[in-house]
Amino acid sequence: MTEDDVSDINLKETVEQGKKEAMDLRMEQINKNMAKIKHKIVVISGKGGVGKTTVAVNLAMSLASVGLRVGILDVDITGPNVAKMLGISPELKPRVDPEAKKFYPINGPLNIKVMSMAFLIMGQDDPVIWRGPMKMGAVRQFLGDAEWGDLDYLVCDLPPGTSDETLDILQLIPDENVVVVSTPQEVALMDARKTIKMSQIMQRNVLGIIENMSGFACPHCGKHIDLYPPGGAEKAAKDFNIRLLGKIPFEVEIGIQGDQGLPFIIKYADSKSAKAFKMAVKNIQKILEK
Ligand SMILES: Nc1ncnc2c1ncn2[C@@H]1O[C@H](COP(=O)(O)OP(=O)(O)OP(=O)(O)O)[C@@H](O)[C@H]1O
Ligand SMILES: [Mg+2]
Repeated sequence: MTEDDVSDINLKETVEQGKKEAMDLRMEQINKNMAKIKHKIVVISGKGGVGKTTVAVNLAMSLASVGLRVGILDVDITGPNVAKMLGISPELKPRVDPEAKKFYPINGPLNIKVMSMAFLIMGQDDPVIWRGPMKMGAVRQFLGDAEWGDLDYLVCDLPPGTSDETLDILQLIPDENVVVVSTPQEVALMDARKTIKMSQIMQRNVLGIIENMSGFACPHCGKHIDLYPPGGAEKAAKDFNIRLLGKIPFEVEIGIQGDQGLPFIIKYADSKSAKAFKMAVKNIQKILEK
């Protein structure tokens, strides 16, 4: 063994040790931050585009509208939509405290604390092209280095599926509660069932399933139209012994208000979907605040 080899081995060890210490420190920070938050809810689905962000944003707004202290974390690193749906300008940048190595989430409507990758990218059209470990690093920083303070609820909006970010966030916050979103369509439910199973295998508290885009009221005659064959969410709830928290109909205004950054629960409070959504929120609160 040459002198060069020895110094190389020591250097590697030192680097590994440094990495481990940094990791332990970050975990400690995450635990400290999460201990100050009473209820953590993660909104997941199997399939994309079923309404997770819509549910997460409106859930956060509903809780904040009754005076609760709420934060929302956009865990969708490559497709962050939370800021847009809350009507917050992506030009805003989180305030950084370099000495304490902390940053502060953006203050959104109703004082909701918001953190998202959207605040960190330069232009709206710039893609975030990151592989798993980098995305996970960002999630850990959002949880550990952001100053969330004392909160009643932290709502986490996830990307679809059961890979990196979903797995990571479920592992990082053991007392997290899971809300599963699905449309009544068979392909969506097929994937939703996988996320329920994954959460149950990880022994997380699955609060239940929200069926979104659950039928449509004909604008001409008011008759209920099923967009997909009904009954799948009830069956999934029964099969996995979880609650069906609510059924939110498809309403054109929900889509429009999502784009305009005006959550329908506030802007369109008397609609069928807002009423159904409020029931789902009540069901969640009943379970968590009993
Ligand atoms: N009940 C509804 N009625 C009408 N439009 C809806 C409804 N729910 C969601 N939408 C619209 O459907 C689209 C997808 O919703 P959303 O972005 O919330 O889904 P997502 O599951 O978060 O998607 P992704 O997997 O890409 O993160 C959005 O344009 C949203 O405004
Ligand atoms: Mg989304």
